[in-house]
Amino acid sequence: PLLVHPDDLPRAVAFFKAVLDGRVPPTFELRVVTKSGAYVPGEFMATPLMQDAQLVGVLGVARDITDRKRAEEALRHLNEALEEEIKRIAHALHDEAGQLLASVHIGLAEVARELPPHVSRRLEDVRGLLTKIEEQLRHLSHELRPTILDDLGLRPALEFLADGVSRRTGLQILVEGAPGKRLAAPTETALYRIVQEALTNVTKHAQATRVTIRFARDGRVLRCTIRDNGTGFDVLAVQARRGARGLGLIGIQERLNAVGGTLNVISTLGSGAELVISVPAETGSADSDSPRR
Ligand SMILES: Nc1ncnc2c1ncn2[C@@H]1O[C@H](COP(=O)(O)OP(=O)(O)OP(=O)(O)O)[C@@H](O)[C@H]1O
Ligand SMILES: [Mg+2]
Repeated sequence: PLLVHPDDLPRAVAFFKAVLDGRVPPTFELRVVTKSGAYVPGEFMATPLMQDAQLVGVLGVARDITDRKRAEEALRHLNEALEEEIKRIAHALHDEAGQLLASVHIGLAEVARELPPHVSRRLEDVRGLLTKIEEQLRHLSHELRPTILDDLGLRPALEFLADGVSRRTGLQILVEGAPGKRLAAPTETALYRIVQEALTNVTKHAQATRVTIRFARDGRVLRCTIRDNGTGFDVLAVQARRGARGLGLIGIQERLNAVGGTLNVISTLGSGAELVISVPAETGSADSDSPRR
């Protein structure tokens, strides 16, 4: 009987070969069989043991990562549930609140007609404000659950988001580079949510005037960096903070764990902040530039 899950065998062989060639492969995951016959996920590190340029052995460490896998799976479910809830709220905002505001509009117009001109002119101002609220509400509900993300992909969705944030806050936001082919849906959603939180952080904490969101494809990894020109912060101090900790950066990290991505926060006081995000750039479906439903 095989020690390694049949589906993982080619990878296992490749890693083993790499070690025998004297290379140090990156940490890898394999499912291995236990005494009871069940497969458990394991994380492996292997290093060739050299003596006088000769391979004399292999040093390996394996760790049972069942719990981590289970936690990641739970997190994925939780994220999906959250996305559903967000969708519901977005629709409620868009449809119900939007409808209510429209009725207020009509009501005000009726009242205005029965009032003397100098009073009804003041009502005009109020209706102008109402129109602004309607626009903002519409924009917000689309940002919450951007159908553009499903239809057109990450870059247009992020431009839409950036546009809204810019208009609300005066922050200049540039989107550079292209994410390339469509990614798996959970990955795109994760990236959108991450940029959303990153921009919120910049408006809340950074006192910045400019943010650049840049995409770069590096083989099978897509890198997305979000950099601002604000106050910056002491990353280690924030990470070590106990008690009243924010959820934003932790949430970003957890979203990335669920899609196999990584986060690097680079910042020092006085010189802005940069989030470097890497995600696997596997495409979601066979034809990957088309809308997704
Ligand atoms: N772009 C940034 N510029 C300056 N400081 C930042 C930036 N992003 C994060 N920080 C600092 O890092 C801390 C942690 O951010 P995080 O998003 O985890 O929490 P939060 O924004 O304080 O709260 P929450 O996201 O839960 O509303 C912030 O409180 C802030 O001090
Ligand atoms: Mg935050």
